[in-house]
Amino acid sequence: MSVRRLAPKELQPASFAFTEENLAWARREIAKYPEGRQASAVIAIMWRAQEQCGGWVPEPAIRVIAELLQMAHIRVLEVATFYTMFQLQPVGKKAHVQVCGTTPCRLRGAGDLIEVCKHRIHHEPFQLSADQNFSWEEVECLGSCVNAPMVMIWKDTYEDLTTDSFGKLLDGFATGNPPPPGPQNGRQFSAPLGGPTTLKDIDDVSAGPATAKGNM
Ligand code: FES
Repeated sequence: MSVRRLAPKELQPASFAFTEENLAWARREIAKYPEGRQASAVIAIMWRAQEQCGGWVPEPAIRVIAELLQMAHIRVLEVATFYTMFQLQPVGKKAHVQVCGTTPCRLRGAGDLIEVCKHRIHHEPFQLSADQNFSWEEVECLGSCVNAPMVMIWKDTYEDLTTDSFGKLLDGFATGNPPPPGPQNGRQFSAPLGGPTTLKDIDDVSAGPATAKGNM
């Protein structure tokens, strides 16, 4: 994990304002909560701000969100700096790649995916590629361990990766035509590769548990 700090002043925009559409959406989010609990909308609204800003949360947006929710600025800053889903500096325009580096993914080749990032994007995480289209970071478990190794790009996960399929994935984002999210090795969700390995005999399934029948 890395230290999570706001981007330096020279990268921060002078101001932030929600678009009319996003502001109306934010007000609807706030209205979902009882009086006095509006702060509960902070994560959803910050996510919308991040989307509006091209994938990261600038400091002026944190202030605007705090004022909208009548929260202390520091409380909103705490949320922004705690969750790795919020980016605190500009990210790649076409893709910010979050590579899971936790044990199951590590054992299945996450280290090789990180090497691909280092060579194709930038040697260091959180740095933009030369064309500013890509950036990457290592994150903790993203909950797709059964499909390790995997990465998340924007809202989607790409799973069962190899260095080859990961390279194709980056090519797809570079050309604006990424493959569908999910397993990249052809299996369905987390089902066994090659098809079912249990309950293959329909008679076994329809007969039900033998012991239960015998006890009736
Ligand atoms: S360890 Fe990578 S998704 Fe859980």
